[in-house]
Amino acid sequence: MAEVAPILAARDVHRTYRFGQVEVPVLRGASISIAPGEWVAILGQSGSGKSTLMHLLGGLDRPDPGRGTIDFDGRAVNLGAGRSLDRYRNRDVGFVFQFYHLLPELSVLENACLPGLVGGWFGGARANAARRRAAELLDQAGLSHRLRHRPAELSGGERQRVAIARALVNGPRVLLADEPTGNLDATTGASILDLIAAQHAQGLTVAMVTHDTSVAARAQRVVRLRDGQVVED
Ligand SMILES: Nc1ncnc2c1ncn2[C@@H]1O[C@H](COP(=O)(O)OP(=O)(O)O)[C@@H](O)[C@H]1O
Ligand SMILES: [Mg+2]
Repeated sequence: MAEVAPILAARDVHRTYRFGQVEVPVLRGASISIAPGEWVAILGQSGSGKSTLMHLLGGLDRPDPGRGTIDFDGRAVNLGAGRSLDRYRNRDVGFVFQFYHLLPELSVLENACLPGLVGGWFGGARANAARRRAAELLDQAGLSHRLRHRPAELSGGERQRVAIARALVNGPRVLLADEPTGNLDATTGASILDLIAAQHAQGLTVAMVTHDTSVAARAQRVVRLRDGQVVED
């Protein structure tokens, strides 16, 4: 099969954490290529560097200086600073975390709209479009009766559905999910994976990290993070 140009790739990335004189190399030449429309799972034990890799892929953190690149749609994202990196994080990729990270003071609808308001202005045409798109995504997630509720009034699974709607509100091409079911029971977790699968079926590219082989089995391709490198399963 001809090689498809990846939508997102990490190329030989290194990431070392420093504690004073002590250096902890977490990623040691990790590479992964994710094709457009693919759903890939990255399996690894706790502490293997899964979240570190996701943060690099999402532009939330950078590789060690000069030691690897993150490429989105053929262009390095980790070298750009300021506006272009903000834009990448806000528009090109969506992030879902294990612990939802919703804002407790905001309603479900407001939480889901939030990335659509960044760089715009409240009440403007862009905000209205974000509100419509958020309401549509929340409806697809089965939450149309919860729009005015606060996160504290929702179950864990419902909160993660809101987080997925928020991640998708700006129409990113790639969803990055860091243990999206890690805080949920198996049945609720499966329904979250069903929601991700439905978005994937509509063309969304998904990169998901997990320590759970049964969760990873929902993806089309499974790779492992081991000794700071990505190896094919
Ligand atoms: N911000 C940080 N500062 C220092 N050490 C960190 C930081 N983030 C992660 N680590 C360390 O890096 C290793 C990998 O962490 P992480 O990427 O969170 O692994 P995983 O998500 O696979 O559990 C762990 O040993 C962790 O303690
Ligand atoms: Mg983690």
